[in-house]
Amino acid sequence: MAVNIMHGKHPDLDVVDVLMEDHREALRTLREAMAATSEDLRDHRKIEDILARVEQADPCSNDYIKVAKELEGSVEDHVKFEEQLQFPQLRQLAAREQLVDLAGQVMKVKTTAPTHPHPRAPHDAASLKLVGPAMGLADRLRDTLRASTS
Ligand SMILES: [Fe+2]
Repeated sequence: MAVNIMHGKHPDLDVVDVLMEDHREALRTLREAMAATSEDLRDHRKIEDILARVEQADPCSNDYIKVAKELEGSVEDHVKFEEQLQFPQLRQLAAREQLVDLAGQVMKVKTTAPTHPHPRAPHDAASLKLVGPAMGLADRLRDTLRASTS
């Protein structure tokens, strides 16, 4: 039997209705966050592909300027997407402790992550965890060798 709630944000609804509405709202937020995550991953792949083209282009060519401007626009669009949609959703879904833990994980991954684009490498989480640090080490070694010869 449902009990009427005569106060709070849903004064005309019974307890079951309130719980169902909260559940639906949480599901809606979760679905939106999952869609945003898919869009985020698509953006990252696109930006990585453009970065690879920038690295291969002759810096003195018109093509370089064109690809660099494409990169600039894609990164600006992506940052706007993250700051205006994805990060607010994340703050809504995760507890403060989870966000702090996530920030720590991001800072840790930054020390071993690749420093160059690898658009042909696998992009699923398990593969990245396995081969990401090796690609990062190879990139850093290459960066060091290039810096010492220039
Ligand atoms: Fe992103």
